[in-house]
Amino acid sequence: MKIKIKRFDLEKNPHQKTEEFKVTHNETILDSLIEIKTQQDNTLTYRCGCRTGVCGSCAIKVNGVEKLACKTQLNENDLIEAINNSKVLRDLVVDLSHEEKFLKNSKTYLKKQSNEKVTSKDVKLIDVQSNCILCQNCFSSCPVYEVNKEFLGPYALTRALRYVNDKKEANTLDIINSIQDNGVWDCTLCGNCTLVCPQFIDPKTDIMNLRMKSVQAGFEDKSFAQFNQGFDSGFDSGFDTGFNPSGGFNPNGF
Ligand code: SF4
Ligand code: SF4
Ligand code: FES
Repeated sequence: MKIKIKRFDLEKNPHQKTEEFKVTHNETILDSLIEIKTQQDNTLTYRCGCRTGVCGSCAIKVNGVEKLACKTQLNENDLIEAINNSKVLRDLVVDLSHEEKFLKNSKTYLKKQSNEKVTSKDVKLIDVQSNCILCQNCFSSCPVYEVNKEFLGPYALTRALRYVNDKKEANTLDIINSIQDNGVWDCTLCGNCTLVCPQFIDPKTDIMNLRMKSVQAGFEDKSFAQFNQGFDSGFDSGFDTGFNPSGGFNPNGF
C-alpha cells in the first residue's frame, strides 16, 4: 500500500515536502509509520505512546481530517500530515506548549476542596468530559485560532465544564469568570471539534452549557453587548430602522 507523508524539519529544511512510501504493515496508520521508521527512513519523526488510543500523543491529519494514528486504518494513498494551529517542529511532531497555557488560563484544575458529599451520580455527571486524553484533535480543527490565538478553545472549555460540574470544587465561579475573555463567547459553534473527538466528547455542547451557566452567574456576551450599544446609538441618532411604533413594520422607512 502507498502512504504519502508531509515532511518538514524546522532546523534543516523549512520547506514542507510530500514523500511517498510503500508499506506492508497497515492495520493502523501508526503501524505504517513504525514500519517506515524502522525499515526505510529512520529520520521520520512522529509521536506515540500507548498505541491503544488512550494517551492522546499520536494525533495527525489524514486527508485533512484529525485522527489518532493508532486508531485509524490506512487506506491506499492516504495523505498524512501534522495537526493544525501548532508550530510544526519536525514531520508529524508539533509544539504543544499551548496545552498547559490554556489549561492554566481556564483554571481547569481543583482549586478549593468543598465538603460536599460526592455520590456515584455526581461522578457520572463529569464522566464524559473526564475522558479527554488531550490529543489536540479538537484544537487542530477549530477555525477560531486563525483570528484569535488566545482562544481557550474546545478541550480547555470542555475541561472547564468538568470542573464546574465537579462537586469537589468549591469555587466554580472562579472558573466561570476565567472563561469569559477569549472563551465561551468566542466559539462560532461550528461543531468541528465534536466531529473529530476520538473520545466521543462534544465540546460544542459543553461550550453551550458553559454559556448558560455564565448567564446564570450574571455574565453576558460582551460582543453582543457592544452590538446592542451600537444599535441603541443608531436608533438615538435618528437612524431609521423601518420600525413604525404606531403599528406595523414599514420596510421602506416611510
Ligand atoms: S464549535 Fe467552537 S470550539 Fe468547536 S471547533 Fe467550532 S469554533 Fe472551535
Ligand atoms: S476533547 Fe476530544 S478531541 Fe479534544 S483533546 Fe479531548 S479527547 Fe482530544
Ligand atoms: S499512541 Fe496513544 S493515543 Fe495513539
